[in-house]
Amino acid sequence: MSDKATLTIGEKSFDLPIMKGSTGPDVVDVRKFYAEADHFTFDPGFTSTASCESKITYIDGDAGILLHRGYPIDQLAEKSSFLEVCHLLLNGELPTADEFRKFEHNITYHTMLHAQFDSFFQGFRRDAHPMAVMTGAVGALSAFYADSLNVDDPKQREISAHRLIAKMPTIAARAFQYSQGRPFVTPRNELSYSENFLRMCFSVPAEDWVPNPVLTRAMDRIFILHADHEQNASTSTVRLAGSSGAHPFACIAAGIACLWGPSHGGANQEALEMLEEIGTVENIPAYVQGVKDRKYKLMGFGHRVYKNFDPRAKVMQKTCYEVLDQLGINDPLLQVAMELEKVALSDPFFIDRKLYPNIDFYSGITLRAMGFPTNMFTVLFALARTVGWISQWKEMFEDPSRKIGRPRQLYTGPTQRDYAPVETRG
Ligand code: CMC
Repeated sequence: MSDKATLTIGEKSFDLPIMKGSTGPDVVDVRKFYAEADHFTFDPGFTSTASCESKITYIDGDAGILLHRGYPIDQLAEKSSFLEVCHLLLNGELPTADEFRKFEHNITYHTMLHAQFDSFFQGFRRDAHPMAVMTGAVGALSAFYADSLNVDDPKQREISAHRLIAKMPTIAARAFQYSQGRPFVTPRNELSYSENFLRMCFSVPAEDWVPNPVLTRAMDRIFILHADHEQNASTSTVRLAGSSGAHPFACIAAGIACLWGPSHGGANQEALEMLEEIGTVENIPAYVQGVKDRKYKLMGFGHRVYKNFDPRAKVMQKTCYEVLDQLGINDPLLQVAMELEKVALSDPFFIDRKLYPNIDFYSGITLRAMGFPTNMFTVLFALARTVGWISQWKEMFEDPSRKIGRPRQLYTGPTQRDYAPVETRG
């Protein structure tokens, strides 16, 4: 196999080095192409472009494989815990027992928010979307934790990473409690990450909160499933924002804003709303016809990278059954989802386009059963993805070849022309 590709433009040929990863497709290195050939490459949705080198997450979309630092997602979801996965993503290895104790201590040590931060929430309307609150609140962390903003200091980078992983559940739970008109609940460090989060969301002063191990496990698994996903839109946003040297709180706020879009993290809310709109199994054929007539998309279906089952969707479906079973809920929307999946997977429109259920298809039913309103779904995604974002951000800072991200363009606007006074225009 050649270690270079040759590209010919007119009379001239240009040799482009080929880079090899540990697995996955080889990559044609075009970094010097513009300087040598005076041409750009064109790839608006980055469908063929590797924007960075990374050792964190690997996806084989055709085979439906997702690995974090080499470990398959189903094994992590089944056997690990979210905090262990955080250590894995951030530091490259699963922790030893001693490393885990230290890591857990470092995270729980940072779960509280500055007392003045609580008044920050009061500025939002009670009916504000919790993602609007998250974007603002996470950006505002920099105003409270100015001692870890120096991105050139590895220790400060580490403290900021721990702060973000630790404080995200506290902020997300406050955004939720605020929207419900309930008092904020202080984190408890003797509880696990997910148990603590559920308690901060659902406990009220009027009665004791009793943990439910099945729901805690489901929450932890949902966090694991959302922890990282290679160079998706929000992660690329975090990397691009970070490439200018911006501090991590600003970068993660940018990631949250990007995640909110309906094609990305906002899809879990839209998928549940779609199931509600369909309502009953009898309405499925008409709804699917609307998709085929391109009136709307089937939310929770399709993926830029997976052209096979999203491996996260399989675990999510199992978790969904476990939660409904534990709570004794017979949700008619589950019937609608299962039938819709069956209809879509046997329809040539979806087969030809390789459209399979993604993680968002079953997550909404699960989260609703657990007591979360639909507008919290994307917040939970953001909470879990924070570790992926910050791990990718950290990796970028440790890469000596880091450069400010600066894409170019194919310009198709007017060429140079002279300014005309207003009375001569028309
Ligand atoms: N329903 C109906 N048709 C679809 C769908 C869908 N959900 N997704 C893609 N298509 C069609 C699309 O219209 C196109 O058809 P044609 O070639 O005839 O014009 C073809 O499939 C290829 O689609 P595409 O738009 O080129 O694919 P993409 O890679 O740009 O889009 C996607 C990926 C996730 C944005 C898209 O599948 C989508 O909008 N899905 C629904 C939203 C959703 O569930 N998003 C969650 C993604 S997983 C969570 C996350 O990582 O954020």
